[in-house]
Amino acid sequence: MTATSTSPEITIEFHKSPVPDADRIKALETPGFGKIFTDHMVLARWTADKGWHDAKVTPRRPLELDPASAVLHYAQEIFEGMKAYKADDGRILLFRPEENARRFAKSAARMAMPEVPEDLFLKAVEELVRVDKNWIPSGDASLYLRPFMFANEAFLGVRPAQEYIFCIIASPVGAYFKGGAKAVSLWVETTYTRAAAGGTGAAKCGGNYAASLVAQAEAAKKDCDQVVFLDAAEHRWVEELGGMNVFFVMNDGSVVTPPLGGTILPGITRASVIVLAKEKGLRIEERPYSFEEWQADAASGKLVEAFACGTAAVLAGIGLVRHAGGEFKVGDGQTGKLTTDLRQQLVSLQKGITNDERGWTRRVL
Ligand code: PLP
Ligand code: COI
Repeated sequence: MTATSTSPEITIEFHKSPVPDADRIKALETPGFGKIFTDHMVLARWTADKGWHDAKVTPRRPLELDPASAVLHYAQEIFEGMKAYKADDGRILLFRPEENARRFAKSAARMAMPEVPEDLFLKAVEELVRVDKNWIPSGDASLYLRPFMFANEAFLGVRPAQEYIFCIIASPVGAYFKGGAKAVSLWVETTYTRAAAGGTGAAKCGGNYAASLVAQAEAAKKDCDQVVFLDAAEHRWVEELGGMNVFFVMNDGSVVTPPLGGTILPGITRASVIVLAKEKGLRIEERPYSFEEWQADAASGKLVEAFACGTAAVLAGIGLVRHAGGEFKVGDGQTGKLTTDLRQQLVSLQKGITNDERGWTRRVL
């Protein structure tokens, strides 16, 4: 399905009874992750005859769907995850939002959905951030933005829908993991896989996450924070976590991360970490890394650190790895030095503390 070439104007309808200041300020003190939401949202519609239209920032409210709406049956749905940060001097910054727009377009193409033009995606994100600017926390917290699109045609035939809704909601967030900067534990999943060659692993579609939940529940049963998936063909090669990419830091200055081959999500944090690590003189190896090699490297001491990374989690050290045959520690089981440094470097860029030489931040206000 092709993109419409013209982007509609975005109108703004302000909430008549937004959350009172005192309640909002209280909620921002301990936001948690994904539990509280701002006063507004973005809505836009796409139909085969009109393309994108009716784009607006509007008071946040429940959506009413026809029970035959295609998304409820065939899961034609994609989403993005990005954050708006408040700098200490009051500037409001987005981090590489063009990359989210491009990935959203690629996810749309994979799921036979219309693309949201990059300028509409960016304008919509920025308008929502401006309208809900009082919801952006300061300090370590940020405003998580969740653009998503779903098929909304009332039709039960199996084919790409002829109607879609693009929506953006916003949620002030603190740390993704309850333990904060403490190293996380992983469960290595050897039964269920996340994505196979030719499938939707590189698209950010809701179905990938639905398919990961049984494995994530298994991880929780084993008292682990996250699941790590192996490849679907051999159940041997490390791919990624349920919602994060993964890196392995060796004692010889090399850093290994699984290659983008269509089965893992091309993380924007992953891409940024690769640039920052290279600038530090580290040798990045994007190559297949097996679970056997991981175990052997942890046992020999060659592996000194491992970390997970993504927008929600930023960088999280991996301390403990549990699997069907036992468990092992990575390094001393704590978040490693490189992980801490890279996290700090990234956060300083995102929050506008360090000078942005790479043009990664985009000022909204
Ligand atoms: N992998 C998966 C499956 C994810 O859901 C995410 C989060 O968005 C990532 C990796 C990291 O991507 P990004 O760094 O763009 O947030
Ligand atoms: C993100 O990091 O933005 C994600 O979408 C991952 C999800 C686990 C919250």
